[in-house]
Amino acid sequence: MRYRTLGTSGTVVSELALGTMTFGAETDETESCAILDRYVDGGGTFVDTADVYAGGRSEEIIGRWMKADPGRADRIVLTSKARFPTSDDPNDVGVSRRHLARALDASLRRLGVDYIDLYQLHAWEQVTPVEESLRFLDDAIRAGKIGYYGFSNYTGWQIATAAGVAARHGWAPPVTLQPQYNLLSRGIELEIVDAASETGLGILPWSPLAGGWLTGKYQRGVLPTTGNRYAKPQDQAAREERDRDDRVWEILDVLARVADSHSATQGQIALAWLLSRPIVTSVILGARTLDQLTQNLPASEIELSDTEREELDRVSAPRFDEYPYSGWARQDRHRPLEGGR
Ligand SMILES: NC(=O)c1ccc[n+]([C@@H]2O[C@H](COP(=O)([O-])OP(=O)(O)OC[C@H]3O[C@@H](n4cnc5c(N)ncnc54)[C@H](OP(=O)(O)O)[C@@H]3O)[C@@H](O)[C@H]2O)c1
Repeated sequence: MRYRTLGTSGTVVSELALGTMTFGAETDETESCAILDRYVDGGGTFVDTADVYAGGRSEEIIGRWMKADPGRADRIVLTSKARFPTSDDPNDVGVSRRHLARALDASLRRLGVDYIDLYQLHAWEQVTPVEESLRFLDDAIRAGKIGYYGFSNYTGWQIATAAGVAARHGWAPPVTLQPQYNLLSRGIELEIVDAASETGLGILPWSPLAGGWLTGKYQRGVLPTTGNRYAKPQDQAAREERDRDDRVWEILDVLARVADSHSATQGQIALAWLLSRPIVTSVILGARTLDQLTQNLPASEIELSDTEREELDRVSAPRFDEYPYSGWARQDRHRPLEGGR
């Protein structure tokens, strides 16, 4: 396992983070604790959760696991998030000072800690002035309740706006962005990667295996019946849309070929590709079972050759064919620094 700094901060985290969205839902407490143990034994130090995962049970499981062995827990760099509704009270949602204060205290209580290293706003929200949320986060840092803060699911202008507000007021800057990013979903390269890079945010990709697609376990035209994410009725439409998309199967073909040449799994190669992207700080692994985590962890030992990376880049390249992203907004990157045209 290799370690990288959390964005422009001085804190170091393992390049594979552990996502815990399934804890207390599809993954029971015993297996969740076994996953945490295996992750830490493999050198992992960075655990991602949120107040809404399994209605708070994910945080509670992590809290009990940390309490059982405080020495081991001390090595963990812990994150949580707030923004989505935690009840039907109209104030138990969003990024207002009121909701964030209550949500943070509730997360600290469930996790059994008095400090969360990285607190993330789970998504942009239209109602609350940016100043209100960022002032709260700066206060929470000064109060010693959180170490840093970051954003999740923000667009480029939202990152630039929020980072500008923090800088203007002299408040602590954001350090990370947690977006969806994987070989089937590279939309963030349109401008979010540039915005994050300009602002000094490290990227923490979620759904690095596209919810399991990039493990190669799905076959074209065969609908899964039970036992995995895309068997759920609410995910059928997404599953069918991917099934119809020729590009998905072209990407999976290349992935399978590269995996064969490394005697690796397709999932490991998909994770290694993300790890090779310079903007990525730590890839958030999702594992429903201990076996899945055990299969995915060795991704950190795989080095892709330049040719393999280029091949994967090419087949999965996002299509930016709409003005201005088709050329105008991107042409400066190719401006010659010397000589005339
Ligand atoms: N900020 C956000 O808005 C946001 C959103 C989503 C997730 N996240 C974070 O990111 C983490 C990871 O997201 P994700 O769960 O979507 O990641 P993912 O890696 O794309 O998908 C994980 C799922 O893929 C399947 N899988 C994983 N390894 C496998 C293997 N070796 N063989 C076969 N199947 C395998 C499992 O699902 P099945 O076995 O059920 O098929 C597993 O639950 C979450 O836990 C959470 O912490 C954040």
